[in-house]
Amino acid sequence: METPSSENVVVAIDGPAASGKSTVARTLARRLRFAYINTGAMYRAVTWHALENGGTEAAEEVIARLQEARLCCVIEDAESQFTINGADPTPHLLTEPVNLNVSRISAIPEVRKMLVALQRESARGRDVVMEGRDIGSAVFPETPYKFYIDASLEVRARRRERQGLLDAIGQRDSQDSSRRTSPLAIAEDSHVIDSSHLTIDGVVGEVIGRLKLKGLALRSDL
Ligand code: DC
Repeated sequence: METPSSENVVVAIDGPAASGKSTVARTLARRLRFAYINTGAMYRAVTWHALENGGTEAAEEVIARLQEARLCCVIEDAESQFTINGADPTPHLLTEPVNLNVSRISAIPEVRKMLVALQRESARGRDVVMEGRDIGSAVFPETPYKFYIDASLEVRARRRERQGLLDAIGQRDSQDSSRRTSPLAIAEDSHVIDSSHLTIDGVVGEVIGRLKLKGLALRSDL
């Protein structure tokens, strides 16, 4: 797979489920005035599509149906909006069937290939904060701005509970970390932040401080 060299800034935010990375990435993007791209939502959307169209059991069939589908990612109001065959999957993304199947679907190399191409395309020509599992390690490995947001399993499970969501995050963690293609891993040059006892603003502040230290030119009010 070709890795693009981007003249635009890519801030990569990776981490396990419920580590707070989505809120951090969205808040950070707003403060930087960059576009926010949520790649987990893309894997969730294709999982929903598979569940709606014949199921997730046979990888070959999942791939074939996905190859026939129209996958589209546009940036609206500075956030990624992903559609499949024109349908908006947003209401289905956090449902239990999707939670249960998304790690398996995202472990299929062909699925990753399609979505990574779309993720790179979505970042073309703009500055972005992109969150996921493999942004710093595989999607934009050349970006100097890589962060890994972590939190203890207990804290993460409590966060999901408070959101009222059923999500076996320990199981997803181990599936996401043990898959063969682009597993969840801490990129060597990534800055790790443990968010267990930090507020969102605390984490965002640490990221901005680090970006400045790395020499990224930011607006003077940041
Ligand atoms: O960030 P999230 O919990 O919404 O992600 C849902 C699943 O998608 C996650 O369990 C693994 C997969 N994923 C991935 O494999 N690669 C990414 N870049 C983002 C998510």
